[in-house]
Amino acid sequence: MKDKLEGLQQKTATALAAGGEQRLAQQHAKGKLAARERIHYLLDTGSFEEIGMLVTHRSSDFGMDQQVFLGDGVITGYGTINGRLVYVFAQDFTVFGGSLSETHAEKICKIMDLAMKNGAPVIGLNDSGGARIQEGVNSLGGYADIFYRNVMASGVVPQISAIMGPCAGGAVYSPAMTDFTIMVEHTSYMFVTGPNVVKTVTNEEVTAEELGGASAHASKSGVTHLTAANDLDCIAKIRQLLSYLPQNCEDSPARLPCQIGEEFRDELRDVVPENANQPYDMRDVIRGIVDADSFFEIHEHYAENIVVGFARIAGRSIGIVGNQPISLAGVLDVGSSKKGARFVRFCDCFNIPLLVLVDVPGFLPGTDQEWNGIIVNGAKLLYAFSEATVPRVTLITRKAYGGAYDVMNSKHIGADMNFAWPTAEIAVMGAKGASEIIFRREIQEAEDPQAMLAEKEREYQEKFAHPYRAASRGFIDEVIDPRDSRRKLIKAFAMLENKAASLPRKKHGNIPL
Ligand code: HXC
Repeated sequence: MKDKLEGLQQKTATALAAGGEQRLAQQHAKGKLAARERIHYLLDTGSFEEIGMLVTHRSSDFGMDQQVFLGDGVITGYGTINGRLVYVFAQDFTVFGGSLSETHAEKICKIMDLAMKNGAPVIGLNDSGGARIQEGVNSLGGYADIFYRNVMASGVVPQISAIMGPCAGGAVYSPAMTDFTIMVEHTSYMFVTGPNVVKTVTNEEVTAEELGGASAHASKSGVTHLTAANDLDCIAKIRQLLSYLPQNCEDSPARLPCQIGEEFRDELRDVVPENANQPYDMRDVIRGIVDADSFFEIHEHYAENIVVGFARIAGRSIGIVGNQPISLAGVLDVGSSKKGARFVRFCDCFNIPLLVLVDVPGFLPGTDQEWNGIIVNGAKLLYAFSEATVPRVTLITRKAYGGAYDVMNSKHIGADMNFAWPTAEIAVMGAKGASEIIFRREIQEAEDPQAMLAEKEREYQEKFAHPYRAASRGFIDEVIDPRDSRRKLIKAFAMLENKAASLPRKKHGNIPL
């Protein structure tokens, strides 16, 4: 017995040494933390319990039996973040480039299974060269075992992926199936095939950073939801993100204590400019409505014509989707529809109520949009809102034109409360375009066509460029003074707190992917 215990102590000491000084120095030299340090900073002090520290790979090809590291390149276990249980894995790039062997995969699967059974989030700190090349199909199978669990866990527990080093090949597909990806600037990149393969196949010359760095995935592909300046910033953002989320799909996000005062916000009266064609920043509306400093933007640099993110209102966690007039006048296009739809579906999975802020001139016209599928992509947003059963509140600040009025959480597709500011314009299209179509003949035959167009525009504007017609039909529940928005929305979300709604019985819907 004594011998066995000593053997165990020896093995444990060796495993701990695997995170030792030389390996630490290698990571630090690249501006990265070591896997164990990342876990240390991520979790509450002293809360980490490691699982599978003594696991080693089973491979003997290519001299692998001579290179055995305890833990096999991934640290797995559980701990707490602000007292809440989370499961975590951190890949260790200094062991075979963090590559995924059969046993490395088994360790990740084990904590994913525990997370599912115990209803707690999974956080993956990825830093991996993909499937371990020496293991062949065993490592590919290991990836597939993880992918399968990513899908099974989707919508059951939140899954967050941090990309904290190179992630190539299979290493990118698991993060892609989780709920949120966050990349560290300059030290991380993601691609299915790296620059060398790209050069061989397409003759294109591109650097790893250009091809799959944080900036490319934050702005061009939308693969990453967030970026971080360094490892510590990345870890801080994971902790912040988690604070808005519940533990699992049966749970609700934690509500923070909040003292309700008079809650009027005069500054909201000045956000929408006098001139209807002048842009303004929808974030100013958001900041005027939500609790101080609580807005946490997601996908900030991708499809900037829509803003999405989490915030709190009177301490309650909410998801916000807002058209953004300072980018493409807030129009809906392929990118913004996909971005909005994905966010809405996440919030709906995890019982996070939705606030939708509307100022949208319609869908973006043109061959580029049509050929890239604005029809099917716009339909995603429509589908996502229609399907969402969480409390849904809309505030129209200015334009709500055409199909985009329907799509942006209108009463007709199941919104619970719909507010409008007096500046709201709810119409099939803008007054000028509408007049040019329906009064074409009068305008052409008029002595002064310009004056006639202006007169018809005024006529159309008086009829439709306000929220009162929609309010008279009950499509808008109340036209509110902007300074009263926060108070009204606090009350609306409180009123909807116990909303119970369900979808017709089905296996699953068929969202137009
Ligand atoms: C085994 C690997 C490895 C891998 C890296 N290493 N990737 N070992 N399997 N997949 C080892 C290297 O041999 C090296 O070992 C150490 O890790 C560090 O790698 P370097 O190349 O020195 O580091 P760096 O220059 O930073 O480059 C990192 C890298 C590069 C970009 C990740 O290593 C690379 O391109 N690796 C291969 C990536 C890849 O093609 N993966 C796809 C596998 S197929 P030593 O002993 O020299 O220190 C796949 C398919 C899954 O994943 C499909 C699922 C859908």
